[in-house]
Amino acid sequence: MTIVHHGNRGWLPAVLLAAVAAWGLMGSAAWAALAPGYLRCEFRQNPLGIDVTQPRLSWELQSAQRAEKQTAYQIRVASSLERLLSGRVDLWDSGRVASSGTAHLVYAGRPLASGDRAWWQVRVWDRGGRASTYSPPALWSMGLLKPSDWKASWISLENSAEPDAQKHVLPPSPFLRKAFTLPKPVRRAVLYASALGLYEMHINGLRVGGDQFTPGWTDYRKRVYYNTYDVTRYLSQGRNALGAVLGDGWAVGYVGLGGRERYGVGRPRLLAQLQVIFTDGTTQTVGTDRTWRATEGPIREGDLLMGEVYDAARELRGWDTPGGSDAGWQPVTVHASWSGAVEAYPGVTVRKEMELAPKSVKEPKPGAFVFDLGQNMVGWARLKVKGPAGTRVQLRFAEMLNPDGTIYTTNLRGARCTDAYLCKGGAVETWEPRFTFHGFRYVELTGYPGRPGRDAVTGVVLTSAAPRSGSFTCSSPLVNQIQHNVEWGQRGNFLEVPTDCPQRDERLGWMGDAQIFVRTACDNRDVSAFFTKWMVDVEDAQRDGAFTDVSPAVAGGQGTAAWADAGIVIPWTLYQVYGDTRVLQRHYAAMDRYIRFMEEHSSNLLRPAEGYGDWLSINANTPTDVLATAYFAYSTDLMSRIATALGKSDDASRYSDLFDRIKEAFNRAYVSPDGRIKGDTQTCYVLALHMGLLPKELESKALDYLVADIEAKGWHLSTGFVGTGYLNPTLSRFGRTDVAYRLLNQTTFPSWGFSVNQGATTIWERWDGWTPERGFQDPGMNSFNHYSFGAVDQWIYGTVAGIDTDPQTPGFRHILIRPQPGGGLTHASAAYRSIRGLISSSWRVTGKGFDLAVSIPPNTTATVSVPASPTAKVLEGGKPAERAPGLRYLGRKEGVALYEAGSGSYRFQVR
Ligand code: BGC
Repeated sequence: MTIVHHGNRGWLPAVLLAAVAAWGLMGSAAWAALAPGYLRCEFRQNPLGIDVTQPRLSWELQSAQRAEKQTAYQIRVASSLERLLSGRVDLWDSGRVASSGTAHLVYAGRPLASGDRAWWQVRVWDRGGRASTYSPPALWSMGLLKPSDWKASWISLENSAEPDAQKHVLPPSPFLRKAFTLPKPVRRAVLYASALGLYEMHINGLRVGGDQFTPGWTDYRKRVYYNTYDVTRYLSQGRNALGAVLGDGWAVGYVGLGGRERYGVGRPRLLAQLQVIFTDGTTQTVGTDRTWRATEGPIREGDLLMGEVYDAARELRGWDTPGGSDAGWQPVTVHASWSGAVEAYPGVTVRKEMELAPKSVKEPKPGAFVFDLGQNMVGWARLKVKGPAGTRVQLRFAEMLNPDGTIYTTNLRGARCTDAYLCKGGAVETWEPRFTFHGFRYVELTGYPGRPGRDAVTGVVLTSAAPRSGSFTCSSPLVNQIQHNVEWGQRGNFLEVPTDCPQRDERLGWMGDAQIFVRTACDNRDVSAFFTKWMVDVEDAQRDGAFTDVSPAVAGGQGTAAWADAGIVIPWTLYQVYGDTRVLQRHYAAMDRYIRFMEEHSSNLLRPAEGYGDWLSINANTPTDVLATAYFAYSTDLMSRIATALGKSDDASRYSDLFDRIKEAFNRAYVSPDGRIKGDTQTCYVLALHMGLLPKELESKALDYLVADIEAKGWHLSTGFVGTGYLNPTLSRFGRTDVAYRLLNQTTFPSWGFSVNQGATTIWERWDGWTPERGFQDPGMNSFNHYSFGAVDQWIYGTVAGIDTDPQTPGFRHILIRPQPGGGLTHASAAYRSIRGLISSSWRVTGKGFDLAVSIPPNTTATVSVPASPTAKVLEGGKPAERAPGLRYLGRKEGVALYEAGSGSYRFQVR
């Protein structure tokens, strides 16, 4: 495959090259013609075991031509790869459909049954009516669609030992096994697995798949997910063995702010079903049932918050192989049923993403070795050790150091975050945990036999493995570090749900944080499937119409302004970014209930003065009634747009009428005739401007108050979680990008740059998490990896690099490219892989003028705003831009020359 920049490769900024190379688009022959690729089903590549019976199919287009379009497509789907490739299509042939659609095409073929496989490919017709070849094939398979498909039962080891001699607080992890015979050669085998708790499946001595913390976190009382694996290659005719290790996870273990056993389950349970098809077409099913045996093994404790303790001397040799023995193992307990529905996992599993080698090892106290990984990360440490049997090496984790170089753990609160490894003795032993994770930069080893080398510890980074979608770089090391910190905040905190923080005893799906960050999250990664899954948790948590503060709902209240509103803001954002209307439909009734809840819980359309307000703002208390009423208006406005998108015009006008009335009430109650808003904080003005709450004539006043306040504070922000996300976008929208850049470049407290100057490698929870004068903030709440303030990234992509979707045509069908250089930057580049393909914008201030390179995928158009003074010449590829193929000149206004661009790559030069 080629890239749109073909021929200009030498000029491409490194960031784009890296992004493009990582996506595998480079290196083979150029494609002049339009070609479809990167096929996805329900947002995922080759998903197995889905239970969406009318899945949506999407692809990307590539072409080296300008202004290329798809005029038609044809999808074909077959039950086997052979059938598909030989054209004997038996599930669906869409025929030639005249359409420019490339995203969310709904499967309309033969109804699919449990376990069915669907191989598919697509071809497209270009602008000139020429057909492409068929794309490389892709696959999806169906899961178990009917409850009666499950022959397996939930099983557990109930009578596992009480805490053992070493006084462990938590019960050990059970190991389970079942040996069985397959009488005939195997054609295909599929494993479906779930747990209340966490599971790791093994077959014949091998671990199945590379996912961690499956089956993820839900409100288990309502639903629990299973994962599907093709395990054909693990099995063969004859004796085979299935094994499972279970961890406590969210279902059984400690969950933020509330102890253990939050779902009424005392020991983890397993549900697994292996479905084998023999070469002669007959089948065999092996499921969890009373014939399984269980025992305790080396994992003496495994808890997400507390850590893992592993006694290697207790390892069970060959436990997961057919030859292994289960003599002395115990019978399992079979549970008749579980209240929650068992459904296919719709999200993005947690996986190992990378490894970090320590930068240094120090010994601040005799026998305590502190490894610095150079990066605040989330995951665990792999340990390498050689020591006598029984040697107990303890690992503790921290984000920061005390002044004496020892690790600072006070901010972890009740999370013990301690692992331990007991050597079996002899050769070098390598160990890593599986049922815990930590947020840390530093690892402390104690009890290590001798002096550890630097390679005694490796940082293993975990994340919900959503594909990277964006990258950004510019001429400012400070801004690049901010971008880096935001990306790492997302990497660490997008772990099954969007968590507030990864280190202390919290790690919850805080809704306010997530809604403020969601657009930034979309810029950095393709979080479509991740949020599709989480929105189910959000709706499951809803109570009496109110969305909760935290989803899954294990802490916090409900109906809190700016937190509960995630229930509307997130689906709306997914629609904007991915053009997904199904997520709007699915949650429409729940969103409507929430609007009604707010209506009922307001007096004269003003919301009560309650809630977290503009959480962690700096000496600037935005009144909670002002903030809550603003959000009431905002969510209602979004609802009216959502109703419009779904074609519900009556609802749309009802909501827009309600919005007008809330706005009126807001102005009457909180806005004085001179435009001052009650509270008079930066966030008051930011909210009112961003949410369109003021009469037009007061907007410029509000802007002036906002800027004056920033100036009076020495060009500092005072905003908290809520205001910060909208601050720079609002300044830019109202013409004060200069002020936004001042804030971005600021390095004294409070600012993003302040934490960077203190050595931050992730975004901090508080603007003053640590200061040279006062040291650490209140350890009761002081995370160094909290992404909320990182929401500025949305402005970095959307305004500095200047890539955005046109709100009128969601899903990047029509793109806005409008970089606004400033802040002393001499260049900035971003690449963003949208649902419709790769978009890039890269600018540079040169001795001769200003250069802007832009590319947009086939089948999209863009309005490109090229910064240019009224007298400057704008060239494209060295010739007057007005005459460039693919461009239509729209005119000049307010310092920019405007062009309507068809797909392709453009190099503008302003001279
Ligand atoms: C969490 C936040 C959350 C807040 C709500 C904190 O404990 O860490 O991120 O939004 O509570 O007040």
